[in-house]
Amino acid sequence: MKTAFIFDLDGVIVDTAKYHYLAWQRLAAEMGFSFDETDNERLKGVGRMQALDILLEIGGLSFTENHRIQLAQQKNTWYVEYLETLNQDAVLPGAVDFLKKSRQLGLKTALGSASQNASLILKKLDLLPYFDAIVDGNITTRAKPDPEVFVLGAKALSEPPSNCVVFEDAQAGIDAALNAGMTAVGVGFPDHLKGAALVVPSLQVLTPQSLILQLL
Ligand code: BG6
Ligand code: MG
Repeated sequence: MKTAFIFDLDGVIVDTAKYHYLAWQRLAAEMGFSFDETDNERLKGVGRMQALDILLEIGGLSFTENHRIQLAQQKNTWYVEYLETLNQDAVLPGAVDFLKKSRQLGLKTALGSASQNASLILKKLDLLPYFDAIVDGNITTRAKPDPEVFVLGAKALSEPPSNCVVFEDAQAGIDAALNAGMTAVGVGFPDHLKGAALVVPSLQVLTPQSLILQLL
């Protein structure tokens, strides 16, 4: 029986994946190479420094640790600037309703995000009350597809992994959920979400009740 839901943030609850993409694209442009949406799939779900390393690999560049830290900080400064305009319109269709209904059903809910900006975003959009636990990039030490973020989420909810369902928009996140021994639901396009038990275009087309029954 599934008793807990663990949600990724960027691209599942809020439409911030596009701002990550814009900020990485701007950084790539400054370094003299282009970076498209196909390349961007590889950066989704992974932590900031790991994402930078993938970007540099795509651009065929390599830098010292100090320079890499500066580049990641620059990207984050731009990203946080984009977040200043964030409002309720950025909450993805069906996300709040799905969270509300999950809690009404008595399911436990956690956030499992690689982002160090997760609390900032949740606070700004008044979404903090929908989660029993928050596990984010300030707590984790290993990037998805490592299962750490979801293992910590399940622990915070006092649930065994087999009771947990993870909602993810990135392949690295689906892999992390499977590596944690959990069931994964993909939010997005099936091509980018291999291994998910189910892929939906958005949480709007799903109810927690029907999902639980489907996963029995
Ligand atoms: C993930 C995003 O949620 O967070 C990645 O999918 C991002 O694209 C990662 O790199 C880290 O985010 P932040 O906000 O800590 O730079
Ligand atoms: Mg995501």
